[in-house]
Amino acid sequence: MRLEGRVCIVTGAASGIGRASAELFAAEGATVVAADLEGAPYRVDVGDEAETIALAGRVVDEHGRIDVLFNNAGIPGVGDVVETTLDLWENVMRVNARGVFLMSRAVVPTMIAQRSGSIVNASSAIVETGLARRVSYAASKGAVLALTKSMQVDLAEHGVRVNALLPGTIMTPFVERYLSESYDDPEEGRRSIRSRQLTGELGAAEDVARAALYLASDESRFVMGAGLTVDGGLSAGKL
Ligand SMILES: NC(=O)c1ccc[n+]([C@@H]2O[C@H](COP(=O)([O-])OP(=O)(O)OC[C@H]3O[C@@H](n4cnc5c(N)ncnc54)[C@H](O)[C@@H]3O)[C@@H](O)[C@H]2O)c1
Repeated sequence: MRLEGRVCIVTGAASGIGRASAELFAAEGATVVAADLEGAPYRVDVGDEAETIALAGRVVDEHGRIDVLFNNAGIPGVGDVVETTLDLWENVMRVNARGVFLMSRAVVPTMIAQRSGSIVNASSAIVETGLARRVSYAASKGAVLALTKSMQVDLAEHGVRVNALLPGTIMTPFVERYLSESYDDPEEGRRSIRSRQLTGELGAAEDVARAALYLASDESRFVMGAGLTVDGGLSAGKL
């Protein structure tokens, strides 16, 4: 019971990594506030300032505290620098980068008042390795890693830790959608994913959820401003 008595907000909790994390956190004793655009008990658009403030206020009203914020909500963006429209760029940055900023800004005053808290941000292994035709997505995830380190410097004195997860390719609806759109035979896509990694195993949402649990819990009390790679060796061979 590594999150016994903890109040944990998970954004993007209706699917994939967010859903697996919400379930794991609950199994570890947490009171989980599962939030998403739809399909979760709490509604939030992380890119909307008023909605992030309303969610944080509601959680404090209902539960009296906020111990963990897992900024997991995110959207993909496919395109090289020429293909990427300004609309796509703005959308991806709005959810992936601005969303992390707004949700964090909404909960941090509560964590500072408690003198404790753990924020976990969804970055990506793409910030280490690069990947074809992912200009907007890579930029947004680089912003998340930089924001993580900078927030950690400011919040350390308040007892708040801020870390990032750098997943590789994880078989969630996010990736399944991409495979079915990009390959006539999705199995060919899976083969290509395996060939980039050091293991033939495909990443599962639970692999990232377990890393999120570690960063959320006191087990990682000495881990601050870190990017934890969970990528089956995707980046290890390249660094
Ligand atoms: N799956 C991967 O391979 C992979 C790799 C690296 C990083 N990530 C990151 O992990 C996170 C989760 O990815 P996933 O694969 O589970 O994706 P997913 O598409 O399965 O789930 C993402 C969830 O976020 C929600 N969401 C989207 N926009 C939102 C908004 N504005 N406000 C609130 N919720 C919103 C969606 O409704 C969805 O339920 C994302 O940030 C993603 O970029 C995923």
